[in-house]
Amino acid sequence: MSRDVVDAARRCVCPGSYDPVTAGHVDVIARAARLYDEVVVAVLHNPAKTGTFTVPERIELLRADLADAGVENVRLEAFANRLLVDVCRDVEAAVVVKGLRGGTDFAYELPMALMNRHLSGVETVFLPGDPQFEHVSSSLVKEVARFGGDITGLVSERVRAALTRRLAEHA
Ligand code: PNS
Repeated sequence: MSRDVVDAARRCVCPGSYDPVTAGHVDVIARAARLYDEVVVAVLHNPAKTGTFTVPERIELLRADLADAGVENVRLEAFANRLLVDVCRDVEAAVVVKGLRGGTDFAYELPMALMNRHLSGVETVFLPGDPQFEHVSSSLVKEVARFGGDITGLVSERVRAALTRRLAEHA
């Protein structure tokens, strides 16, 4: 096996919108960081769509939450309107790591994993999500927060505060 292929196998990409990062995301990225030499957290976005947080805000929240979790071998990158396989090629990663919260996630993720392998040979490694975060997604967290529900423990305190501020701005 060539040296490039060996190096690429030691680096993985954890892609997502991260709008915003949740406790479930941090858990999966931290576990990926124990399996690979380097994790590239790729914030993939469509500039035509306005998210709740800007991409620099998402990256800053990710950076702070991952530092709090003690994850050091991580790199944060943003990509607009890019195929994940092209991101993997650019950062020289042979593996995508994703967390699976259950069967519905698997049904959604499997065709994408197969398509990515079809397009470039990149492999997807699925990590079982921690059951304590099985119900946690960025969109559900935002909906609960929007209507005044308690999201303590589902996101970090800084994300909770940032979300509270953002929702107040848009109220
Ligand atoms: O956090 P999300 O929104 O569930 O992340 C989805 C994401 C960004 C990982 C997925 O939509 C993706 O890989 N987008 C990149 C575009 C692409 O490669 N599409 C083809 C996938 S087969």
